[in-house]
This record gives sequence, C-alpha cells and structure tokens, in this order.
Amino acid sequence: MAKKVTKIGVLTSGGDAPGMNAAVRAVVRTGIYYGLEVYGIMRGYTGMVENDIIPMHSRSVANIIQRGGTILKTARCKEFLQKEGRQKAYNNLKDLGIDGLVIIGGDGSFRGADVFSREFDIPCIGIPGTIDKDIAGTDFTIGFDTAVNTAVESIDKIRDTADAHDRLFIIEVMGRDAGYIALHSGIATGAEHILIPERKTDMEELISSLQEKERRKKLVNMVVVAEGDEFGGGDQVAALVKERLPNVDTRLCILGHIQRGGSPTCLDRLIASRMGYSAVECLLEGRHNVMVGILNNRMQYTLLEKAVKSKQKISDEWMKIVKILAS
Ligand code: F6P
Repeated sequence: MAKKVTKIGVLTSGGDAPGMNAAVRAVVRTGIYYGLEVYGIMRGYTGMVENDIIPMHSRSVANIIQRGGTILKTARCKEFLQKEGRQKAYNNLKDLGIDGLVIIGGDGSFRGADVFSREFDIPCIGIPGTIDKDIAGTDFTIGFDTAVNTAVESIDKIRDTADAHDRLFIIEVMGRDAGYIALHSGIATGAEHILIPERKTDMEELISSLQEKERRKKLVNMVVVAEGDEFGGGDQVAALVKERLPNVDTRLCILGHIQRGGSPTCLDRLIASRMGYSAVECLLEGRHNVMVGILNNRMQYTLLEKAVKSKQKISDEWMKIVKILAS
C-alpha cells in the first residue's frame, strides 16, 4: 500500500519551454484543491540541493498562465548528478516533510528524477516540458507548439525577403537531437528541403536538387535544418551550398533562442493544465516514477525510464509529403 502524500514539491528543470508556468499553476491549484501543501523548488534540482524551496499558494500562481519562461526558474544542475548532491537534496526535502515531487522538464530531468526516486523511495511524477518533443509516450510536450509557431512566423517573414531578392535561405531551427521543429515548421512554410537528425542527409542529392531548381528558374528556395542534423547544422550546410553553388544568392538565418520564449499557445496552455492536474492525481493515487503524457487525447502514464529511452518515431510518410509538396 503506497504512502499517502501530504506535501508535494514542484520544479522546472532543463531548458525552459512556453507553458511551463501553466503547468506549475495547475499543479499548485490541484494540490491545494485536494488539501495538499505545495512547495515551489527554485532553479530545478539546484534549489533542492541548496534548499531554495518556497511555499506556494493559490495566489502565487495568479496571472502566469499566459507567460513564457518559468516563475520557478530553471537550471541544469551538475551537483544532482552526484550521489552527495542528491543526498543533500533529499535531506532538505525530508526537513520540510515533502513526500512527493512533480518534475516539469525533458529527458535529462526525468533521468535525474528516476535515479533520485529509486535511491530515496520518493514518488516522482514527470511532466514533459521541452520544445524539442523528443520524448516517447506522449503526442505533445509542453512548449513544442509555441516554438513551432514562432518558427513558422519567422520563416514566413524570411520568405518575403527570399522572394523579393530571389534568394536561397538556409534556416536553422532548434532541436539538439530531434527534428520535430524542423519537420513541422518546414512543412507548414513550404520549405523545399528539411534536414533532420533522424534521417541521413545526402548532401549530393541536396546540391543537385538545388541545381535543378536553379535550372528551372525556381527563384525562392528555403532549406530548414535542425541544429542537430548530423551534417552539422545551418552554418555547415550554408558553407557547402555557397561553395558548390557560387552563383546562387544564399543567406543563412539561425533562429536560435527566440523559439524558446513568448506567450504559450492555447494548445500548450491546455496540455500543461491537463498534465499538471493529472500529475497531482497520480501522486494521490500512489503512482511512482511515471511521466504523464497525452496519447490520442487520453492521459497516458509511461515509466520515466521508458520515456527517456525511446523517442517518438518520425514516419517515412512525413518525409514523402515533404518531397511531393516541394516538387
Ligand atoms: O532542449 C531544448 C533546447 O532548446 C534544444 O533544442 C537546444 O539545443 C538546447 O535546448 C539549447 O540549450 P541552451 O539554452 O542551454 O543553450
């Protein structure tokens, strides 16, 4: 029989993602609704190690559902990778009587939660918060929709200049190990080519396709590259294209961190609210070490270790769509 939780902590960890605040709000308000004491742990696991932990009330999360970033701040904590760091963190939680945790973050944050939970027998529930969408067991991760919409808005603007000057643009979007932002934003903006880490990029094929487009007098061309593409991201691709196609007016644009900020979209606020609520229910039901996700519009619980080990697959059909629609 699982111990009943009475005091829970919530933290945001890893790269910030728009919608994290909406998730924090949902955790705090659901926890309070069910009579729990809720604490906010500042700067991810760093706040746990350094005892930077504050009580949260319903009003603490007022007026944040629409804000990007995270009011709890975030960090990637090196000390938590060591047993001594985790022991310190546990002692701090114990002193406050915190007996359950909600971790909003990506795969690195879940790995930490899984180890911590096993070492100290404290239930940890993960909420997928990352713009990269590189986690299995969920159709959505908090922040992805906002990031993709930011990328689409930016690429649309770049297209205006590409069209005005008859240029080829290489556009790098975020995604360290995952190509979802590139794939979704590239399809939605009509990119001619999309390069992602999940597929081997044939650079010769890319060059000859661009040559062919030049021959056909196709004047506006956009290549969207995920930063983690194995060829090496936007700058390497642009350098190669400039070298091999010196007559083509080519420019590089790296969108960078603008994709991480901004007010979350409606979808991100909704999934954050559902996941935050569901995470508290998981703790109350006595679940341990699961990530709450949404699959086919239903809540889905995946063991943390499984969520980080497998990735969502990109189907070949998506790649076929890119090819056909850009022809
Ligand atoms: O994981 C989210 C992400 O935005 C990646 O797409 C990117 O590679 C990384 O974080 C950048 O991290 P940082 O802000 O620490 O440079």
